Amino acid sequence: MSDLFKAPKGTYDVIPPFSDLWLRVKEALATPPKLSGYGYIETPMFEDTALFVRGVGESTDVVSKEMYTFEDKGGRSLTLRPEGTAGVLRAMLENRLDRGALPAKVWYTGPNFRYEQPQSGRYRQHTQVGVEAIGSSDPALDAEVIWMASYAQRELLGLKKVRILVNSLGCKSCRPNYRKLLIEFLAKLKLDEPTKARAQLNPLRVLDDKRSEVQEQLVDAPLMPDHLCQECRNHHEQVLNYLVDLKVNYELAPRLVRGLDYYVRTTFECLHDGLGAQSAIGGGGRYDGLIETLGGPAIGGVGFGLGVDRTCLALQAEKLDQNSEALTKAYVIPIGESANQTAMQVTWQLRDQGIGTELAFDGRSIKAAMKNADRSGAKFAIIIGADELEKSSAVVKNLSSGDQELIALELLAQHIARNL
Ligand code: HAM
Repeated sequence: MSDLFKAPKGTYDVIPPFSDLWLRVKEALATPPKLSGYGYIETPMFEDTALFVRGVGESTDVVSKEMYTFEDKGGRSLTLRPEGTAGVLRAMLENRLDRGALPAKVWYTGPNFRYEQPQSGRYRQHTQVGVEAIGSSDPALDAEVIWMASYAQRELLGLKKVRILVNSLGCKSCRPNYRKLLIEFLAKLKLDEPTKARAQLNPLRVLDDKRSEVQEQLVDAPLMPDHLCQECRNHHEQVLNYLVDLKVNYELAPRLVRGLDYYVRTTFECLHDGLGAQSAIGGGGRYDGLIETLGGPAIGGVGFGLGVDRTCLALQAEKLDQNSEALTKAYVIPIGESANQTAMQVTWQLRDQGIGTELAFDGRSIKAAMKNADRSGAKFAIIIGADELEKSSAVVKNLSSGDQELIALELLAQHIARNL
């Protein structure tokens, strides 16, 4: 016998019963966008490599180290998408959504691919539910996006240990001055060579350094919110005021920077305190300027990406993963070959009434079939043997109480539906 294949390193399979939780999370994360007029969009899983280089930014780890890039048989350089925003914006522009009613608002879900060092909560394929809204610079839109994340995580999924960090990263007029100040400040510190290099190339990322010897030296670092231009300050204040109106609990995080280059003004991250190092269960922000970089008009946009994998882990950490009720409500068991046809008809009738129903296959013994009925989570076993056939009836057994009664086949669906 040859060895079994394994899923590639850094990936995993979503299999039952975990997949119930997975689907529940996707559904919950997608609900606020659906309630808020965001239309569903689906784009290819691979794009021109140049789209990500230009859109996400060459200096980011995602682009410089983590992309799955390959040449196709036509000699094109393609990349499996490492994130959703660049491809979705490409599609919105290509399909002229920017010429219709603004803001144009979409939501999406699907896998993303990053060649990262795998660990708990960090995978080489991960799934996000995301939104992008383009063509508006209204701070109310930033607040709407943050509210949607918070509402899904806290209200719909019931997570208690979520913190939402909010910052402003300024704009192209105020950030360069701040960047200069920060570079000057960082130049005076005792940093190792790679960090010194980063301080030149992407100084804001140094603020995010987790090592205590670096953080100790950053206590007096200049912070972006103290150096915002008047317009950015107004925008930031309005976003925060709206969040208060929407009752979204947030924390100001003046050192928050994100791993992607396109953010300006509002940035945010949703952290879960039960997850250890990979605690970000979502993040996003405003990206005015990005659409122009991608060849579109000078309009702004804002969005988020929420991690499905990590949200499942967060629910498990808070023990909120157990309460999904089985879809199977009834389990039909034929006894003896003569009952097969009737059992099948009954099964299909129940399903036709919207009642989740499974059928026992392979003529198993009643004992084995009852075991499977218990495992399925069904509320009722419906047993049909020769005696029942003669009376055009079935034995309906309540699997939690053990009670059973004989019910006429024509009343079966009604009986089950009434007692669910
Ligand atoms: P991101 O912060 O890179 O943002 O990813 C969003 C979320 O995806 C993270 O908070 C995390 O939950 C999850 N995630 C990212 N990488 C991994 C991984 N290797 N393993 C497991 N989960 C992961 C974006 O991708 C932006 N496109 C979000 C956005 C949309 N900004 C504006 N619009």
